[in-house]
Amino acid sequence: MSARVAVFASGGGSNLQALVDHFNRPGAAAPARVELVIGDRPGAGALERAARAGIESRVIEVAGRPEEDVARETLAALERAGIRFVALAGYLRRVPADVVRAYHGRMTNIHPALLPAFGGKGMYGMRVHRAVLDAGCKVTGPTVHLVDEEYDTGPIIAQWPVPVLPGDTPETLAARVLRVEHRLYPAALEALIVGAEPDAAAMAAAFCGCETEPPAPEEIRRALGLD
Ligand code: GRF
Repeated sequence: MSARVAVFASGGGSNLQALVDHFNRPGAAAPARVELVIGDRPGAGALERAARAGIESRVIEVAGRPEEDVARETLAALERAGIRFVALAGYLRRVPADVVRAYHGRMTNIHPALLPAFGGKGMYGMRVHRAVLDAGCKVTGPTVHLVDEEYDTGPIIAQWPVPVLPGDTPETLAARVLRVEHRLYPAALEALIVGAEPDAAAMAAAFCGCETEPPAPEEIRRALGLD
């Protein structure tokens, strides 16, 4: 039986779409299915995507409401839909502590930088990519992590490096990272759901083709413009 997943989203929902495309393929015996989308405001693109995919959605308003009320409404919605895993995908609100506790180890988030750098309260959207560029980073990339009661601090499940290229703007960098997010998030969530163990050697090989040895000195010199 596939695990029932809820996705929380505030924005356009391209990561939601990637999760739906991966898990809700018609006829596929996927280990999970997106069965519920929760937004914090009406009119978000993510809710339209849910409607197009025939997935139940609901808006649970957060602004100006006591946290206990939001928690109660959220937990009731998740329970009614039989949700086992929660994936935050561009959800700009802090999830109430009671909900985080109820889904301990079963709630994920994707962040568009290599945590623990460039995370925390207020670090979202273009601000993240601007900070990466301002810091002069040569590498960035998305992080999928478990959610705890703070912003962006839970245990990391997966990361993937994305180069920062000369002439990048926050927008060009965001687009390059987002394309990787769409591949990484479904795979990382699936790995969590099926209890897969990451293969460090395979990951290192995929990163740089040097799973057993460091890169050759001349490769490093060439990359640094020395030769
Ligand atoms: C993504 O960059 C994600 O990393 C961050 O919010 C953005 C959401 O984009 N948490 P979308 O709504 O999935 O297109």
